[in-house]
Amino acid sequence: MAIELTKEVLENLAAKAIEARDSAYCPYSGFAVGAALLDINGNVWTGGNIENAAYGPTNCAERTAFFKAVSEGVRDFLAIAVAGGKAGEAPASFCAPCGVCRQVMREFCMDDFKVILAKPGEMDVYTLSEILPVSFSPRDLA
Ligand code: THU
Repeated sequence: MAIELTKEVLENLAAKAIEARDSAYCPYSGFAVGAALLDINGNVWTGGNIENAAYGPTNCAERTAFFKAVSEGVRDFLAIAVAGGKAGEAPASFCAPCGVCRQVMREFCMDDFKVILAKPGEMDVYTLSEILPVSFSPRDLA
């Protein structure tokens, strides 16, 4: 049965993204990000950012969530929620996905994939095509 993206479902995903910040490994930036990715079967894949002393190998929370799911054979997604801010504090403002993460979303998601920016008690909802218009996608190589 298809999952309906009700306000309650989106709010639940937003709460899971805020919670997932606890898994962030961010000793260099002190900026903890959490992501919660909803697949078409209703499973939620969470992730935190994983930093590295060499800086470049750092993985964003969104990609952690995507790579966990894809490496388990899941490739169909409905929505992702993201929350970020100073580690140890509640997020004070919205944290939008970086360009690299948007491109990873593009690889696996449709134009209407929902991107939820979350902070306690508040969320902003966008579609992938809104945050990554005129993009390069697998269709370009077909
Ligand atoms: N970061 C994310 O995890 N997701 C984003 O969308 C933006 C940035 C992380 C990367 C790095 O560990 C820290 O936030 C500061 O850039």
